Amino acid sequence: MDSETPRARRVLLAKPRGYCAGVDRAVEAVERALDQYGAPIYVRKQIVHNTHVVKRLEARGAVFVEETEQVPEGAIVVFSAHGVAPSVHEEAAGRRLKTIDATCPLVTKVHNEARRFAAKDYDILLIGHEGHEEVEGTAGEAPQHIQLVDGFDGVEGIEVRDPEKVVWLSQTTLSVDETEETVARLRGRFPNLIDPPSDDICYATSNRQTAVKEIAAESELVIVVGSTNSSNSKRLVEVAKDYGADASYLVDDASFVQEEWLDGVTTVGVTSGASVPEELVDGVLARLAELGFVDVQEVESVKESMRFALPHELRRDLRTA
Ligand code: F3S
Repeated sequence: MDSETPRARRVLLAKPRGYCAGVDRAVEAVERALDQYGAPIYVRKQIVHNTHVVKRLEARGAVFVEETEQVPEGAIVVFSAHGVAPSVHEEAAGRRLKTIDATCPLVTKVHNEARRFAAKDYDILLIGHEGHEEVEGTAGEAPQHIQLVDGFDGVEGIEVRDPEKVVWLSQTTLSVDETEETVARLRGRFPNLIDPPSDDICYATSNRQTAVKEIAAESELVIVVGSTNSSNSKRLVEVAKDYGADASYLVDDASFVQEEWLDGVTTVGVTSGASVPEELVDGVLARLAELGFVDVQEVESVKESMRFALPHELRRDLRTA
């Protein structure tokens, strides 16, 4: 190609992207509950952090509430994929609510670890983002034993009762690289810090970060489809910039893509967060095609095949129906 020939415009589409097994299960739980019991089905918090998914379920009769006290006594409530503290289960029982717990099994795993270490009287350092629903749920398992570490800055202020009995756990949707750095700093303060029995950052978060690293290295711009309250989607934007993209933007759907972002760009990377339905990615690809990016190459970094069964309380009713 001589220097006068413009380079072909192309899209590198990351794989894996989009729905993870936990989101798939949670969304299906609400859909199947609507089929089984009829509307309204109450859902505490957004079932998954995606505006479009929430609107679609609302149109079918799901009613999203912030707290169980907003659910009429005796009604059905679904708990979101991010998990809830034991106190929320107690409140629901107190109001005689029928609950369907769509907490992702990989979040439940972290809750179980928190309970186990708390029972052995460890200080638990929970790395995560303050105010995130998942962190509130996990911390609620053992509030007397858990301290939140929100990023590097949180490390210095941590005080523990016994430096020989400290373990770290984490939110499932963090940046893998940043968490490693945070743990290294914590270990600098507490050399005998214990690691979780297995990775708390889930397979889907880590696979989507691996995939975006691969396309970011070859893309001037990376578009991440996802909502602004989606932790794993926001991490993908940061990782894309850290791994070579000049710019990276989070878009809820194609209508957010701005033509000027593509000025001088020949390769656009596209990926999506773990709560994003594929049709939203298709919409972004169609918009990019209108702007001259018709050549789409999928780059697969990791194969995924994880599936989770529906919540058992729902399966039981589906069986007996
Ligand atoms: Fe579960 Fe990870 Fe998805 S914790 S909900 S599999 S992002």
